[in-house]
Amino acid sequence: MNNDQSLTTTLGQFHLQNPFLLASAPPTASYEQIRRAFSVGWAGAVIKTIRPDGMVIEDVSPRFHAIKESSGEILGFENIELLSKKTVSYWTSQIPRLKQEFPNRLLVASIMGTPDPADWKSLASQVEEAGADAIEMNVSCPHGMPEQGVGAAIGQDPAMVRDLTRAVKDATEIPVIVKLTPNVTDILPIARAAAAGGADMISAINTVQCLSGIDLDTFEPLPSVAGYSTYGGYSGPAVKPIGLRMVSQIASSIDLPVIGIGGISGWRDAAEYLLAGASAVQVCTAVMWHGFGIVREMQSGLSSYLAGKGVSTPDQIRGLALGRLRSHQSLDRAARIRPSLSARTRCTSCGRCVIACRDGGYHAIALHDGNPEFDYSLCDGCSLCSQVCPESTIILSREG
Ligand SMILES: Cc1cc2nc3c(=O)[nH]c(=O)nc-3n(C[C@H](O)[C@H](O)[C@H](O)COP(=O)(O)O)c2cc1C
Repeated sequence: MNNDQSLTTTLGQFHLQNPFLLASAPPTASYEQIRRAFSVGWAGAVIKTIRPDGMVIEDVSPRFHAIKESSGEILGFENIELLSKKTVSYWTSQIPRLKQEFPNRLLVASIMGTPDPADWKSLASQVEEAGADAIEMNVSCPHGMPEQGVGAAIGQDPAMVRDLTRAVKDATEIPVIVKLTPNVTDILPIARAAAAGGADMISAINTVQCLSGIDLDTFEPLPSVAGYSTYGGYSGPAVKPIGLRMVSQIASSIDLPVIGIGGISGWRDAAEYLLAGASAVQVCTAVMWHGFGIVREMQSGLSSYLAGKGVSTPDQIRGLALGRLRSHQSLDRAARIRPSLSARTRCTSCGRCVIACRDGGYHAIALHDGNPEFDYSLCDGCSLCSQVCPESTIILSREG
């Protein structure tokens, strides 16, 4: 099914075939990969971060550790990988090839330099000259690079973000995207600093700094590199709530297009980011897990969703959830939900709701003849019973 027509998306000055872009990461580490991704239907790609040739990149092995559901599906993914191992000249020779073969796809060059603006200017000029459509400034890698004073070490300092953004803007004519780190207490001062430096767009989020596990037998933190590890970057479904929160905060406060990143595995995740104010989205971990082909389901799913909502492009749902985000204090205290058994699904009498309500709630549920019965005089409407129900048998209705 080709639904591209209805997915045309506006991202700043660009008109994309659809809102689905590849994030700067292993899937964009070579000409061949980006070429294959474009052939499958991705509307654009951000090249794996290019760094000055003098900045030595030596990756460790292993460098990934996934946290999975029992089904094998991914929940979260830690990586301690560094930047592109390819030289600047590799990329300045491949960017023109990709642009020639796919003139209508968005090709963004991710760059990272030291705090010296000259580094950034030089890289920016070279990728612009090669024909990149835009530059994404990586001031957000949380591992390896901050130890050298770059990556998230820059992205956690508003003055550096502002000044380096300005330096890149001064050196180039093409749009500049600043990719932010979630590893800050408040993302807004950093986003404002990027805007003050002249950024044309913001992308968020890079990975969340983490320690994803420890081997109980050997006491080795994971991923273990010859017995030792380091804090890494967390991505995949587990980080979507963090990404959504930050994208909505930026979109609410700053008048720049935002590209949403973090935990997008399907069209539903992408639609949520659009509703939270993103103009387009980037995907990494889901492609590493399932391959480039997931973009087909993303396209057809989003097309059907938009058609069902009676809108013709993703642009028309941008930010529609933002007006519904308020302070906790201004939420309606009188509103209440009431749990009940759904007629359509079957209770297996597992008792999870009873135990949860007894030990973590209000003791408002008891099993009678194998079915949960609710004592609404005790129920506080917290919704824990429906959250723990493995069969989605308990539904919530608004009272009144
Ligand atoms: C193995 C790996 C390598 C990555 N390398 C880069 C990189 O070179 N530059 C960059 O800006 N982000 C990099 N990222 C971060 C991703 O672009 C993205 O921001 C993050 O993974 C969240 O998106 P996701 O949940 O779809 O993976 C990397 C992520 C992973 C998992």
